[in-house]
Amino acid sequence: MSEFDITPLIHHPYRPPEGFSAPQAGVHKASTVLFPTVAAMRNRDWRSRSGYTYGLHGTPTTFLLEERLAALEGGSECVLAPSGLAAIALVDQALLASGDEVLLPDNVYGPSRELARNELLRWGIAHRFYDPMDAAALAFMITPATKLVWLEAAGSVTMEFPDLVNLVAAAKARGVTTALDNTWGAGLAFRPFDLGIDIVMQALTKFPSGGGDVLMGSVTTRNATLHERLKLTHMHLGLGVAANDAELILRSLPSIGVRYAAHDATARQLAAWLGARPEVARVLHPAFESCPGHAHWKSLCSSAAGLFSVMLDARYSQAQVDAFVDALTLFGIGYSWGGPMSLAVPYDLKAMRGDRAYAGSLVRFSIGLESVAALQADLEQALRKLA
Ligand SMILES: Cc1ncc(COP(=O)(O)O)c(C=O)c1O
Repeated sequence: MSEFDITPLIHHPYRPPEGFSAPQAGVHKASTVLFPTVAAMRNRDWRSRSGYTYGLHGTPTTFLLEERLAALEGGSECVLAPSGLAAIALVDQALLASGDEVLLPDNVYGPSRELARNELLRWGIAHRFYDPMDAAALAFMITPATKLVWLEAAGSVTMEFPDLVNLVAAAKARGVTTALDNTWGAGLAFRPFDLGIDIVMQALTKFPSGGGDVLMGSVTTRNATLHERLKLTHMHLGLGVAANDAELILRSLPSIGVRYAAHDATARQLAAWLGARPEVARVLHPAFESCPGHAHWKSLCSSAAGLFSVMLDARYSQAQVDAFVDALTLFGIGYSWGGPMSLAVPYDLKAMRGDRAYAGSLVRFSIGLESVAALQADLEQALRKLA
């Protein structure tokens, strides 16, 4: 019996003709990348984007996405990580060593706080929290051990928009590197590098993906030395991303501007409507005067992410607030933002900002792409459950 020899299915002489061109990027999947000769393999440069070495360290698909994200952020270099949180951890690991300290805003994205409290501490890296609304206080907190200041604008639950200009100035005056979690701004609301920020991280999971179905992060810089430090740590940690996921982000990126604007417009209308309701004590949306840091937002931005919180009046128990969220039919109960479906999450503020908590119960809304009328009707029927 003759067996079929599968060798031609691996080494087939077919070469696609030159000249194929299409608007959408190709998906290049590889662990092994082939070198034309042993000499070329020996001369490989793991850090350079001018050639390929191993799928983990870059393919045409991931290099293209990195280039596009650098363009979006106004940076020059970018590395991808498997999630936004992995991108935060990459920055921490690349820049901090035992004996160093990192300063985090006290409204920082929760898992970044947990990373500092758990992993960074185990590696001998200290952390302290600063009030993002008090740049003068940050200046006094910086010591020779401070090697990194994280920034976040706006805070993703309590929505304060910090005094970025003076926070960056305080860090710069003492030679400390600054890194911004720019997931809220998405490269659209303001230009972080123009403010002198050194590193811009983004959870691509949110607006760049836009589908609620991909996890990825990016770290962008304008500084070749910083980028090389990040890229080396990135390689040592093996932070690869899947080509199909990278292609999904490439596919969504061209529509990020219109999606961001649509989320923003709907969110502002709903926030204004909620602000006029008797059940709502306060609206926390950077474009509203009732939000701490509104003046800072106004001086830097004209747009905002479709994300805001409300403080429901203190007369409602947590059980009533939970029942309100449960009663929503169009808003899913779940984390994240930037996708087509609106989401609502009640948060325990005291666990996040301690003494600075406002009166009442906080519910955060991530506004999707549904119509204002439909979302407003849903909120209205659920608010009736509070009575
Ligand atoms: C402000 C902010 N930064 C970072 C992240 C982390 O992104 P990922 O879920 O991709 O790890 C999130 C996710 O919710 C976020 O809200």
